[in-house]
Amino acid sequence: MHQPQLNKEDMRWDYLEGDGDFRSEEVTKLRDEADIVVTNPPFSLFREFLPWLFEGGVEFAIIGNMNAVTYKEVYPLIKENRLWLGATRNGGGAMWFRIPDNAPVKKSGQRIDPDGTRWQTIGSSAWFTNIEHGRRHEPLVLMTMEDNLVYGLKAVKDIGYPKYDNYDAIEVPKVLGIPSDYDGVMGVPITFLGKYNPEQFEIVKFRHGDDGKDLSYPLADGGTKTPYFRVLIRHRRPDAKEA
Ligand SMILES: C[S@@+](CC[C@H](N)C(=O)[O-])C[C@H]1O[C@@H](n2cnc3c(N)ncnc32)[C@H](O)[C@@H]1O
Repeated sequence: MHQPQLNKEDMRWDYLEGDGDFRSEEVTKLRDEADIVVTNPPFSLFREFLPWLFEGGVEFAIIGNMNAVTYKEVYPLIKENRLWLGATRNGGGAMWFRIPDNAPVKKSGQRIDPDGTRWQTIGSSAWFTNIEHGRRHEPLVLMTMEDNLVYGLKAVKDIGYPKYDNYDAIEVPKVLGIPSDYDGVMGVPITFLGKYNPEQFEIVKFRHGDDGKDLSYPLADGGTKTPYFRVLIRHRRPDAKEA
């Protein structure tokens, strides 16, 4: 079978006339000629760069901070299935880059494959893309609510899926604690987006309750807790409840 190949020798390049600002006519024209844009835009312009890409109708893979999913310019695109995390996703943003054999050894954030290939993670960076990939169609394997409450993670057992005060949904503090058989809405941490399979789950809403405020739930001592940014999701086909 013919394998398409990109040879460095075939690549052509030239200097730009202007300063290279992506908003300039010159760079916008290059975008319009392109099929795919792959780059690492400045994080401070991420909100502006994304609409520029969509305006050009290109496929893209860009590096951003994982926290960008909490921007009001970004999460509607994820909900609408027009933007997702790349194939090296894990939802925490720990993206792996291949590094040379002689790169300095660091105490943390590095790993070596059995064949000796070395890798380094870059803080909370992640690929944001609209290019299809297989990982996002792999289903997350989960336990039922009953099993989670007995054998599940401590963070889940400790609070036992409380209902929010300001939205009809339950709090799920860990992605792996999502109950497989719950048919209502569930609030999960943003790391969920690293496991998100749009055939398995529907994203209902981001962050806010019916009152427009951050989601919060009651604590046993009478107080309330407002967890960090939650994604409200629902199973497309929840497992049947255990008899
Ligand atoms: C996170 S760095 C990425 C660097 C690049 N990956 C490299 O290895 O050289 C972001 C880059 O965007 C450039 N930049 C800043 N504002 C820009 C703008 N308005 N248009 C285009 N590029 C811009 C910066 O100069 C910087 O080189």
